[in-house]
Amino acid sequence: MTLEQYIEEHTSPPPAELQSVERATNLYLHNPRMCSGAVQGRLLKMLTLMIRPRLVLELGTYSGYSALSIAEGLANDAVLHTIEANDELEDFIRANLSRSPHGGKVRLHIGDAAELTDTVAPGEAFDLAFIDADKRAYPLYYDKVKRRIRPGGYIVADNTLWDGHVVETGHDDAQTEGVRRFNDIVASDPDAEQVILPLRDGLTIIRLR
Ligand SMILES: C[S@@+](CC[C@H](N)C(=O)[O-])C[C@H]1O[C@@H](n2cnc3c(N)ncnc32)[C@H](O)[C@@H]1O
Repeated sequence: MTLEQYIEEHTSPPPAELQSVERATNLYLHNPRMCSGAVQGRLLKMLTLMIRPRLVLELGTYSGYSALSIAEGLANDAVLHTIEANDELEDFIRANLSRSPHGGKVRLHIGDAAELTDTVAPGEAFDLAFIDADKRAYPLYYDKVKRRIRPGGYIVADNTLWDGHVVETGHDDAQTEGVRRFNDIVASDPDAEQVILPLRDGLTIIRLR
């Protein structure tokens, strides 16, 4: 047994509808490892229960697994806006949302995350954002998301260790550079306190002052 399997076996299991989303993601989508999966999904739900946000923003929906994990922790009148650029995923995502008792809390927007971050829920401040779209654009997302989060709000960013490439030589591709720059910007931001959890591909939790 690997440590990863051990952790999963000793973590609360996701509900049946999320297990179905993960199964369908593995069967029908390219790159199924992009799906948050059981342990990260449980953490997202738990963070949501702890933060108790009324309004959440997600960049990068993919199959809807993380959106539904966060939605599970949301109060019934709270809302998660999630943005996905790949319009071919829309029907798949909407089907997953409709099968979940928490899908009604999720508003799906198809389009570019950087652009739509400026315009979703106009005039409202988000309590929590989950950044998980184009790694090259993480520095831009950070800048834009920060403008939409209330003081004392939280940003969670996925893949911030990028398969360990952030510390390895010979990885100077645009995605690795995007993640490295994001990590450096956050680390030197006087408005932020943050911790990188070495869970899965690296998950950074940021609290804005
Ligand atoms: C890692 S996956 C998201 C996984 C999902 N959050 C989860 O944890 O289950 C990244 C997603 O971001 C989407 N994406 C990439 N570039 C984007 C952009 N510019 N705007 C919005 N979504 C984008 C991809 O199509 C992909 O579905």
